Amino acid sequence: MKYIFANWKMNLGIRESIALSRAVMRILRGEEKTPIVSIFPSFTVLNDVRKIMARSRVKLGAQNCAIEKKGSFTGEVSIGMLEDVGCDYVLVGHSERRTLFAEDNELVAKRLKSAMESRLTPILCVGEPASERESGNAEGYVSEQLYSALKDLKIPKQKDLFIAYEPVWAIGSGQAALVADMVFMHGLIRSLAKTITDHQDSKIHVIYGGSVDAKNAYGFLREAQVDGVLVGGASLKIREFEGIVQSASEVMLAQEL
Ligand code: PGA
Repeated sequence: MKYIFANWKMNLGIRESIALSRAVMRILRGEEKTPIVSIFPSFTVLNDVRKIMARSRVKLGAQNCAIEKKGSFTGEVSIGMLEDVGCDYVLVGHSERRTLFAEDNELVAKRLKSAMESRLTPILCVGEPASERESGNAEGYVSEQLYSALKDLKIPKQKDLFIAYEPVWAIGSGQAALVADMVFMHGLIRSLAKTITDHQDSKIHVIYGGSVDAKNAYGFLREAQVDGVLVGGASLKIREFEGIVQSASEVMLAQEL
């Protein structure tokens, strides 16, 4: 199986979200073998998107969640509320949250723990900034992010653990990681995640994010180390997104996944 996750970020209002959701449904209809697709829209349109996706295999995800269950936390959206609206997934520790909203490793670990204890499946995002890659410390930096997020985490047996490797310099820059570098990092992430959590290997999924588009998606997705992609900019353009979904379908057909 391959996973295609569409992170719409803070881009679409109600009408645009509804139109794009319908278009996504249409492209999936034509495919023989389809990856698992999930859309991560803004909080304000989760309910509208859910109604459109109802009775399809498309999943729904949120871009963030509160750590606390309930109470006086003005501006926050709880995990219970996300469950209520029909979410399956939630992103945790996306690089924009880490850099623009000061989420450090400790806070990301708390958020991941709260989400893991719920019915949602969290997607932990990790990735090094350009300076760390240039100084040869990409592995050390990502290992530290993983270690602090996973070391005290209890993962229920039946639950999937998703980790998105998103190098910060590749996000929204048009400069995706080289396939060889990405495959190496995915291998490292998988083996570290396995060692730290002792979770079942088949339940650990490592996906790539950072300037994925219709042109480069096949090259990433055909790699065995790559369980899927997290797509930002290209998920807002239906032709690009269609190309990415098609790439996943082709890989799944060719590799009998
Ligand atoms: P991008 O964003 O595809 O626009 O690089 C990816 C992400 O931030 O998840």
